[in-house]
Amino acid sequence: MQRRRFLQGTGLLAAGQILPISLVELAFAEAGQNFAFAYISDSHIQHIKGSQFVRNWDRGLIRAVAETNLLSPKPDFIVFGGDLAQLGSKEELDHGAEMLSALKGKVHHVMGEHDYYLDLGEYWSRLFGPHYYSFDHKGVHFVVLNSILTDDDWIYRRWPTPQQRMAEMAGLDNPNGSPFMVGEKQRQWLKDDLAKLDRTTPLVVFSHSPLQKIYKGWNFWTEDAEEVQNLLKDFRKVTVLYGHVHQIQYNRIGAISFNSVMATAWPWPYPTAYAQAGEVHLPKLTVPMNRADPFFERDATGWQFIDMASGNVDLHYTLYENRSRVVRFNPQTGQPEDSVYQTESARMAPQNHY
Ligand SMILES: [Fe+2]
Ligand SMILES: [Fe+2]
Repeated sequence: MQRRRFLQGTGLLAAGQILPISLVELAFAEAGQNFAFAYISDSHIQHIKGSQFVRNWDRGLIRAVAETNLLSPKPDFIVFGGDLAQLGSKEELDHGAEMLSALKGKVHHVMGEHDYYLDLGEYWSRLFGPHYYSFDHKGVHFVVLNSILTDDDWIYRRWPTPQQRMAEMAGLDNPNGSPFMVGEKQRQWLKDDLAKLDRTTPLVVFSHSPLQKIYKGWNFWTEDAEEVQNLLKDFRKVTVLYGHVHQIQYNRIGAISFNSVMATAWPWPYPTAYAQAGEVHLPKLTVPMNRADPFFERDATGWQFIDMASGNVDLHYTLYENRSRVVRFNPQTGQPEDSVYQTESARMAPQNHY
């Protein structure tokens, strides 16, 4: 009953077309009580000068906040998935926080690299609290990790100014960047945090970078992903949700489901474009955009409905001016499958135009 009401709510929203939020419904059998939360990510609020900010990024976040407040039934809480700011400045974080303050409900924040590398998360912490933590809600254990840390040498010794450090980490394909990691201290904390739980407790982990290795050149990557996965793997129902990649991604490693959420700011290239690069899965970024429609800035942004019933994850993507897609868990193969594009012959051809 609750699920039907929720879908009615999302049906209403579909009429609005650009919906830069993700809706997550949890219905784990052990938890016994369905609930929903909303997920907004990657707004990249960008300061120009004085009171001027990049308008499109502002509009994406304002829209997401408005749509979230209209959800019916009301989500139990909201997650902001990181990269609220573009270059981590006080002006950007304050401006982003002000827009988010219109949200009706508790917001849990995840740290993004664009929020972090100017002052190492100090001002962000004053606004939003700790960099990593956990909480329980209706029988589900939620963990928030700061997955965008890196080596001390890179952070403290390589760059002459915090501004340069931030700029180097802000580029998608900058070879001067450094791989993201959760780090030993936080992994030990996670181990201790999970030790208190029964292995049947449904687990949902929020990170900013994927806790799986997709493409190192773009930092779609977490260096110690396997070590974090090892801490999660004995739980029967684990879902990892992440932002950062500004695109649709889904995967399953053992019992762990991985799903990205889309950005409110801009899209990165489609997964289908990775085919051009053969074995490395992603092409070298020769130009910033490689879209199906490079003239449409919102191409492949949209919203998704994530159904975690039974601990497997079904995703319903509503893409602006594109055919909606469903990625559903197939119990026969034990994998998530795209209902339209999964078979080789039905996939979109690699895109050769730039
Ligand atoms: Fe981002
Ligand atoms: Fe990011």
